[in-house]
Amino acid sequence: MCGIVGILGRAPVAEQLVDSLKRLEYRGYDSAGVATLENGSLARRRAEGKLKNLEALLEAKPLGGHTGIGHTRWATHGRPTENNAHPHATDRVAVVHNGIIENFRELREELEHKGAMFSTETDTEVVVHLVDNLLKGGVAPVEAVRAVLSQLRGAFALGFIFAGEDDLMIGARNGPPLAVGHGEGEMYLGSDAIALGPLTDTISYLEDGDWVVLNRKGATIFDKDNAIVHREAIKHTTATALVDKANYRHFMAKEIHEQPEVVGHTLARYVDMATERVALPVKLPFDFKDIQRISITACGTASYAGFVAKYWLERLARVPVELDVASEFRYREAPLRKGDLAIFISQSGETADTLAALRYAKAQGAHTLSVVNVPTSTIARESETVLQTLAGPEIGVASTKAFTCQLMVLAALAVAAGKARGELSDADEAKLVHGLVEIPRLMSEALTSEPQIEKLARELSKSRDVLYLGRGTSYPLALEGALKLKEISYIHAEGYAAGELKHGPIALIDEHMPVVVIAPYDKVFEKTVSNMQEVAARGGKIILMTDAKGAAEATIQSLVTIVMPDMGSTFAPMVYAVPVQLLAYHTAVVMGTDVDQPRNLAKSVTVE
Ligand code: F6R
Repeated sequence: MCGIVGILGRAPVAEQLVDSLKRLEYRGYDSAGVATLENGSLARRRAEGKLKNLEALLEAKPLGGHTGIGHTRWATHGRPTENNAHPHATDRVAVVHNGIIENFRELREELEHKGAMFSTETDTEVVVHLVDNLLKGGVAPVEAVRAVLSQLRGAFALGFIFAGEDDLMIGARNGPPLAVGHGEGEMYLGSDAIALGPLTDTISYLEDGDWVVLNRKGATIFDKDNAIVHREAIKHTTATALVDKANYRHFMAKEIHEQPEVVGHTLARYVDMATERVALPVKLPFDFKDIQRISITACGTASYAGFVAKYWLERLARVPVELDVASEFRYREAPLRKGDLAIFISQSGETADTLAALRYAKAQGAHTLSVVNVPTSTIARESETVLQTLAGPEIGVASTKAFTCQLMVLAALAVAAGKARGELSDADEAKLVHGLVEIPRLMSEALTSEPQIEKLARELSKSRDVLYLGRGTSYPLALEGALKLKEISYIHAEGYAAGELKHGPIALIDEHMPVVVIAPYDKVFEKTVSNMQEVAARGGKIILMTDAKGAAEATIQSLVTIVMPDMGSTFAPMVYAVPVQLLAYHTAVVMGTDVDQPRNLAKSVTVE
């Protein structure tokens, strides 16, 4: 969740640290800070709020030093104040931390008992005191960190620098990712390769339990048993330039508009357009014919992609699919059998709950297949099979293009499964692939509804609550629409299966409750029209997204239709995602919220 970076440089590092933190701001933006060694002594600058506050502070009070660490925070323990901002430090050691020290309460009590004075509300401060106590007693930094790591429980990535030790930095990984960057007479630490993009393209990824001692000549990596290990240095292709907004006001707008292109790239990776066949880029280590049951696990928006995939896999491949949010799956001890297929979906590939669910499935002997956007991520590295989405870096915290690319990969997988299980003929496959090939164009067409959606958003922004309804694959999309709206506009929204309306939520309907209905013209369209009639009869205002032009307006007043392109309904969620995202986006813009970095959220959720 938080982002950490460290530089053992040959020139002053404060500015470079901030530059790297900018690339990590997606991980958290409650506060930020840097610490460096100025003439052998630790010096810090920290600021509440966005990184620009830290930048302003550094301009007013510059920080020298060729050795430094930096942090951008997503608060877990302690409010997002300057005092709770990292790095945390004593005169001897400064620490940056991503994750949670689960046993910090016991450790803090013990330390307080021995006389330690705590000055923050964070769990991180125990690490500082533990190391400091050993240093004070004459223990060398490396030995001190080694001893302290063995006392910590939880999920954490840590970076340390020490007073008087200009050529030393220590990093540790237990859960959240940590990368080591190799430079020319310089070495780096970072939460991911993107953070280190402008500094180096040569990265070694620490494995879980590893810790690393860096000096300017290189890195010595130890595993959890303190044995020296080799972690290969990989050439990384992440663009060095910071991904920019082009001419868009927000990353989210840019990412919504990029979808025809990136979904097209993903499509090209998964189907052979010439022969109209699915062509997965990797050989599956199992035969879909042998799969009795599939489980799909993910969090948030990615779980809604999984929910849509459940409909596709069950219908096209006739294989039962169980869907879980990862935070539930990991603890409910789901009985997986050896040879079952467990699918995991994650943009970042670092979501702690999804990763834990993956490890659980592996331990049960299931085949693990992950749909991820970051190929170097932990989930990708630990999965038996990886199907990459080609969405490119997604910077807006609210997921958009990663979601539709996930859908494209899952659609191709469902067709491949249907074919392998003998449920789809060659002709069926060709027809479905033809449908997929049309998606990027249809998404472009859907984007033309933006001016109308912008106007509707002005009205929607006056609402306190909004209901989203859909049937079939539009039901998960209704859930996604409600999530998107609430997370960036802070308007309360709920998604429901349209048929559930009369089992409770109808009680909420009155003239103040807009209802967004997602209803492609499919075999359940008429049923959804009946639900809309129930809403209209109670004064509810309806925003309908459909390709059934005129079919509902004839009977229902108080209805605005966002007309979608004509298409077969099977893969409609990828196209209908566009107006759903645009509606949330423009409502948030009217409300004046921080669209790309909504309050309390973070892009990569590496804590439970
Ligand atoms: C919502 C959103 C989140 C993520 C969720 C999983 O817009 O972005 O709900 O989908 O945190 O993240 P990943 O896909 O990185 O595992």
